[in-house]
Amino acid sequence: MRKKIHILAMGGTIAGRAGDSAATTGYQAGAVGVEELIAAVPQLAEAAEVSGEQLAAIDSKDITAAEQLLLVKRVRELLLSGAVDGIVVTHGTDTMEESAYLLDLLHFADKPVVLTGAMRPATALSADGPLNLLDAVRTAASEEARDRGVLVVLNNAIHSAHLVTKVSTTAVETFQSPNGGAVGAVNDGEVVFFQSPQLHHLPNALSVSEALTVRGKLPYVPIFYGHSDDDGTLIPMALEKGAKGIVYAGMGNGSIPARAEEKLAAAVRAGIPVIRASSSVYGMVTKAEASYEQAGFAAGGLLNPRKARLLLQVAVCGGLSPAEWQKFLA
Ligand code: SIN
Repeated sequence: MRKKIHILAMGGTIAGRAGDSAATTGYQAGAVGVEELIAAVPQLAEAAEVSGEQLAAIDSKDITAAEQLLLVKRVRELLLSGAVDGIVVTHGTDTMEESAYLLDLLHFADKPVVLTGAMRPATALSADGPLNLLDAVRTAASEEARDRGVLVVLNNAIHSAHLVTKVSTTAVETFQSPNGGAVGAVNDGEVVFFQSPQLHHLPNALSVSEALTVRGKLPYVPIFYGHSDDDGTLIPMALEKGAKGIVYAGMGNGSIPARAEEKLAAAVRAGIPVIRASSSVYGMVTKAEASYEQAGFAAGGLLNPRKARLLLQVAVCGGLSPAEWQKFLA
């Protein structure tokens, strides 16, 4: 029996329209509707029974927490309804890894949720979106993809939400998982997994997801980017503005200049959790300096700063204990 795969369209370059088919920049993201995206790939009908729904039509750099939570809500409704076997989300690439990670934290089902997008607009010569969409639907329809959480499929590769990141500004092979590699591939329609993704599902994902979507917003958790001569001036200002957590994207192994470290330590003393992440792409952030432990900073592990931010937002909002959220930093 053909699997029922529902496509939720959020916009992005996969739905981008440019005046010139040779243009790969300067287009309008999110301009092509989901029905047009589906119609452009007749092979989808062979892969699954496909339906589509337009949830947003945005350039993903502009996505807000309200739109991310709308996506979470709709995915939850569809999975709970039992009406679909899998879900594909078409999404802009700029924040795809963030939406994928948020969905993974709040995932509660064994059915696949697969995000895809494109680096070239739908109107471009050599557009990458149509094959990415087909591969994403094939993955979502695959028995092999069950119990593997939220996945990101582009350029024939399957990545976990936990590790995937956009590494190139413009290349079609932009999505990589530097600290573990792709978990699988789609080769001429055959979906193959090489390894099992590490799942970052909250134990109480369903109730936290419901609470967050009722609230419709996420707490303010800024990311500070470490650099030479950083004295952390903006850290107390963020606390005054109501920050409920802080991520510091430090240098190398999450290193923090001493003057910024003092201000972050004061934040922890005031009850604000701090994660040390890194601006480096390879390697995990480990405990490192004794002073970081004494101050109570959490070492970010393999989470990049943007995903660490989402983890803190969900943890604060969902009332998670430090032990509950820090296990995802291992
Ligand atoms: C976006 O993120 O919406 C625009 C860029 C892209 O999708 O590649």
